Amino acid sequence: MTPLYEGKAKRLWATSDPNVLRMEFKNDATAFNGEKKASFEDKGRLNNAISTLIYGMLEKEGVPTHFVRQIDETNVEVRKVEILMVEVIVRNLAAGSFCKRTGVEEGREFSRPIVEFSIKSDELGDPLVNDDYIRELDLASEADLAFLREAALKVNEILIRFFGECGLKLVDFKLEFGRLAEDPSQIVLADEISPDGCRLWDLKTGEKMDKDRFRRDLGNVMEAYAEVLDRVKKATGA
Ligand code: C5P
Repeated sequence: MTPLYEGKAKRLWATSDPNVLRMEFKNDATAFNGEKKASFEDKGRLNNAISTLIYGMLEKEGVPTHFVRQIDETNVEVRKVEILMVEVIVRNLAAGSFCKRTGVEEGREFSRPIVEFSIKSDELGDPLVNDDYIRELDLASEADLAFLREAALKVNEILIRFFGECGLKLVDFKLEFGRLAEDPSQIVLADEISPDGCRLWDLKTGEKMDKDRFRRDLGNVMEAYAEVLDRVKKATGA
């Protein structure tokens, strides 16, 4: 069998239901748009476990998502969506490409969250774009963009509170959304929410507990992910 889609960290497989796919979490890790590659034993399991608990929590909070159920350690069932080619990044503190772009020191707190859009394109390196680019490139309608911004800010509020309960500061994160195959008028949260796509700092020590450990060769990458899972489990009562 060949997957319907293979990305850098996941594969999508067909199921007997045309509106449901199986999403498999791989152990592969990439950074800097695929320039840096590695594989970590257990990464797929850890990210699946973390993402599954967070999606369950978000659904309870009233956020519509693609999530259906966990199948096993590295697989979940998700509703089939057409992924929007716009990625949404929310930033609460300065880090990563924001610092590179602006020269601001890492860790500066913003007065309000920053919402950013980029084009989902490995070829182009996910370039940052504004509303006018998105309109002219026909990537999303103005109404869709307003919806994405509002949904991302709502998810941010929920995640800040949730990760706070885990003793973690939510620095920034990336979200992807998709149109449901069975009803394209509905846009839902898709992809994963894990330390691969969120920056999380320990509230007490400031220690990085996310993919920056891999990006910056800080070591103990999977130990940090396992610690995040432990705390997420406790916070969700799992
Ligand atoms: O690199 P940058 O600072 O723009 O990343 C912001 C946030 O979005 C980080 O949490 C990063 O992990 C996430 N991100 C991602 N996938 C991308 C780009 C950014 O998960 N393609």
